[in-house]
Amino acid sequence: MTTFQRHRRMRSSETMRQLVQEHSLQMNDLIYPLFISELAEIPQEVPSMPGIFQLPLAALEAEILEIQNLGIKAVLLFGIPKVKDSSGSQAYASDGIVQEAIQMIKSLAPQMLVIADTCLCEYTNHGHCGLLNHAGYVLNDESLPLHCQVALAQAKAGADIIAPSNCMDGCVAAIRQALDRNGFELIPVMGYSNKFASSFYGPFRDAADSAPKSGDRKSYQMNYANNREAIRELMSDIEEGADFVMVKPAMAFLDIVKQTRQLTHLPIVAYNVSGEYAMVKAAAAQKWIDEPQLVCEILTSMKRAGADLIITYHAKELAQWLK
Ligand code: PBG
Repeated sequence: MTTFQRHRRMRSSETMRQLVQEHSLQMNDLIYPLFISELAEIPQEVPSMPGIFQLPLAALEAEILEIQNLGIKAVLLFGIPKVKDSSGSQAYASDGIVQEAIQMIKSLAPQMLVIADTCLCEYTNHGHCGLLNHAGYVLNDESLPLHCQVALAQAKAGADIIAPSNCMDGCVAAIRQALDRNGFELIPVMGYSNKFASSFYGPFRDAADSAPKSGDRKSYQMNYANNREAIRELMSDIEEGADFVMVKPAMAFLDIVKQTRQLTHLPIVAYNVSGEYAMVKAAAAQKWIDEPQLVCEILTSMKRAGADLIITYHAKELAQWLK
């Protein structure tokens, strides 16, 4: 008689299944993005992201206290300035909206970890992540000093982690050097090491008012068809001194998360982006799926693939479900 394995022995009860469960979601894993707006007077819900709001500074205190009560320990900040210009100067102004938000959060909730997204697209009048030349091409080396200025303004305001999402070559190295030269050698850099040019960012660009006015981001963000290029990008961020590495988007890129896990011992962050959130919300609104179960399945898959941390718009509701 041929023998076979009786795998179902290990699934005989809920307790047994829990005993042999390999991965799980914890509050320590979650990072919650916040959109702070200089234009909103009251919280404005983002139509393509139900449950996510553009917040005026005046609403930030209540939000932070709520987040803290839910057990969320880290936030990622994006800013929507009143004034935009060709160099995105509000991104590095000492009284820019994100700098003010950072100061406010650190005084209200000193234990809350504040991660500052370092980019220009929300602040430039053309919507690109760096300076443009006459032909509309995003300049790399000329943009780096600006990104360093943004990072320094954020660090001076009290940011705990600098997260450059602009995808300029050499940005992690440039920011690391700028931080070190200004007494911020203990501030880590979270590299957006594998950031793919993606249609999953659509709702975010509504939320952050950051869509490019012309063209796209394909000259600086990665081609989603590429795997070996992802390894080269990862390796250069590691060599440049990244303390965390990121894969973004997450759901359609779990192979990249897994590959990253095999290539580095650094903490890996998976960004469960706006379009992934919007798809779940749209299906849930139709009652086509069981939302809490689906969200747990999606986010646990990111852990299983090798992510240590997950940036997710579901963090607040997940905190309630986990309770
Ligand atoms: C800015 C930035 C983007 C996201 C985070 N930082 C969008 C983009 O590249 O246009 C997307 C996040 C999301 O979709 O949730 N460069």
